[in-house]
Amino acid sequence: MIHNTTEGMNLIARSFDLQPGDEVILADHEHSSGRIPWEVWQETKGITLVRPILPLIPKSVEELVEVYKKSITPRTKIISMCHMVNTNGMILPVRQVAEMAHKKGILVAVDGAQTAGMFAIDLHELGCDFYTASAHKWLFSPKGIGVFYAKKESQRKLKPLMVARGHMDTSIRRLENYNTRNLPEVLGLGAAVDFHNTLTTKKIHRRTYELKDYFRSKIKDDARFLIKTPAPDQLSAGIQVVEVKGKKVKDVKEELWEAYGIDCRPMGSHGLNALRLSFAIYITKQDIDYLVNALRAVAG
Ligand SMILES: Cc1ncc(COP(=O)(O)O)c(C=O)c1O
Repeated sequence: MIHNTTEGMNLIARSFDLQPGDEVILADHEHSSGRIPWEVWQETKGITLVRPILPLIPKSVEELVEVYKKSITPRTKIISMCHMVNTNGMILPVRQVAEMAHKKGILVAVDGAQTAGMFAIDLHELGCDFYTASAHKWLFSPKGIGVFYAKKESQRKLKPLMVARGHMDTSIRRLENYNTRNLPEVLGLGAAVDFHNTLTTKKIHRRTYELKDYFRSKIKDDARFLIKTPAPDQLSAGIQVVEVKGKKVKDVKEELWEAYGIDCRPMGSHGLNALRLSFAIYITKQDIDYLVNALRAVAG
């Protein structure tokens, strides 16, 4: 247990004594929480950050894998990647990248902030070395608590961010010794996981994709909109990003909020000019109808 994704990404980056010229691959869609710890090493230790550009709408998983493959050199030590990017909701091919990276002795760290709880994830199957997530997003726990995973063989590579009683433990628990903790957030995580397990991962997974399909089916043939999230299920799930053609996303966001009470995140980076819409399992199809009608009215 950690506090959030940012802490998990720091825990990973701060564990490695990289040398000048060692390379870390971070694609252009990485969140600042997974980027800044490596940027600090770039400034202070002279490591090199390799920043490949991901296609916004890849045609296949292989196209994304190829981007990572081309970025690897003999100096690559770590690939740090989101499971789902927060910009346009694209799922990145962690399993395939980890498989490729491990053959070359490269470690793979994953930021799961936008995925943990959204759909079925098998960490053993993904095969990454490290996976971390905040639990307040798709797991519905209180803020201030997150989860951290390291696969057995990679656990010993990690150094605790804080040393306190228990720091000599041989298990991964040595990384979470903070002494006094805020109990409600810990109990909140337990309740969130119980809730998740009561619903079952299978049903949550199914519901996420059902809402995605419902939303996409409503607007995909409407020429006033441009969906800027890849369509295949391997490449996207509960986050969909949509541009209202000919309108600035900031204006669309404001209109949706003021006239319809719908709040959503305007995404301006990576040439998106698009609204980020999150379809958590408690969203109903009527909610989506309401949203789509509002979008149509705003689009004119
Ligand atoms: C992909 C991604 N990574 C990391 C974070 C940071 O999460 P936290 O502030 O909970 O550490 C976010 C937050 O939105 C995110 O979307």
